[in-house]
Amino acid sequence: MSAISMDQLVSLCKRRGFLFQNADIYGGLQGVYDYGPLGVELKNNLKAAWWRAMVYERDDVEGLDAAILTNRKVLHYSGHEDTFSDPMTDCRKCKGRFRADHIKDGKCPNCGSTDMTEPRPFNLMFKTAIGPVDDGSSFGYLRPETAQAIFTQFKNVVDSTSRKLPFGIAQIGKSFRNEITPRNFIFRVREFEQAELEYFVMPGEDEKWHEIWKEKRIKWWLEQGLVREHMNIYVTPKEDLAHYSKATYDIEYQFPHGMEELEGIANRTDYDLGNHTKGQDEFELFSHCHENPESTQKLCIRDEENNRWVVPFVIEPSMGVDRGVLAVMTEAYTEEDMGDGSKRIVLKLKKHLAPIKVAVIPLKKNNEQIMSKCHEIKQNLLKLGIGRVALENTGNIGKAYRRHDEIGTPLCLTVDFETIENSPETVTVRDRDTMEQTRVPVADLPNFLRDYFL
Ligand code: GLY
Repeated sequence: MSAISMDQLVSLCKRRGFLFQNADIYGGLQGVYDYGPLGVELKNNLKAAWWRAMVYERDDVEGLDAAILTNRKVLHYSGHEDTFSDPMTDCRKCKGRFRADHIKDGKCPNCGSTDMTEPRPFNLMFKTAIGPVDDGSSFGYLRPETAQAIFTQFKNVVDSTSRKLPFGIAQIGKSFRNEITPRNFIFRVREFEQAELEYFVMPGEDEKWHEIWKEKRIKWWLEQGLVREHMNIYVTPKEDLAHYSKATYDIEYQFPHGMEELEGIANRTDYDLGNHTKGQDEFELFSHCHENPESTQKLCIRDEENNRWVVPFVIEPSMGVDRGVLAVMTEAYTEEDMGDGSKRIVLKLKKHLAPIKVAVIPLKKNNEQIMSKCHEIKQNLLKLGIGRVALENTGNIGKAYRRHDEIGTPLCLTVDFETIENSPETVTVRDRDTMEQTRVPVADLPNFLRDYFL
């Protein structure tokens, strides 16, 4: 069990400005959420940590930022038009609609009736008219995964970077799925963000790389603060594999609602490039389901050792960014007994993920001299590039500490009369986790904070 229930987490997220229901003032849009002032910082920090590990720290990965609107041919040849569906069942009594695989004992989760229709496939893709004429002939999709554009841009990336196998293409962006029953806050939503790496390897080396990426991704999640005991590696049974996968590991996490998938690591073989390539017959493909008379490009790479062209296999670590936000918040949430009957809520986020890195707090509200020093300190700290530095002007130091504990700010700097009257000037630095306070000369702050954050 996690230390926080989903209700507590939802309430904290709204109260402190991490996440809001979309279109709240009109009753909301189901399965759609907006990131608030702190949520956007946390999410950006998580994405930056992923990009750093997957692109900057490697010498074999390039980035991509492709369009969300997708030509229907892409999703036809990828197999999504035919197979990207969930089984849906209707309750004949209350008319509720549910995912058939989420139904327990054949009972409607809404009214308890057992009078349910036979499950039928429901395609999860959002279809949209493209262009001014909406007569059904000109439509595309909002992408259901970021991966497809990586496959369709494979040749352009290879040609423009001269990459050889193994190498990867990474992308972060929005994807859309018309979930039958969105639920569990931002766990299952209709608009979400993915961080996906497609790592292309020589056929035959795929199983080795699948293991390597599984281990790398577990390690990365530990670096984001998750605890190994709260994670599980689920080996997807053959009958449950996605249409493109030969084998998939799910990194699962103990969310407030249970142990569920946080990231999938699939061995997609040559399925996607094989389906999208021109001249399929020229290659020894491991898997393909469609003849493709429409593609204009060969999606292959030279295998010099064996003097042939090959369609690479691909290993795909695919992380749900929103699920990542939910997981790191769940893990970080801590309640501490203060010994006087009160408790302290602390979000013990890793410092690189914290939405606000440093809060500069004046001891006295609206005091001109103190405020001017606070502004000066803040401007100097911003130059360090450590992330967001916030200036408080509430005048209630206890309240400010409580708020910053609850939103995970690692350090609070208090500017008081000693700061402006003494020489050298000093500030109090308070540590979120230990609550220890030390006085640090203002002139030493850049080095102190650089050592702490970078
Ligand atoms: N690209 C894998 C997924 O979206 O599930």
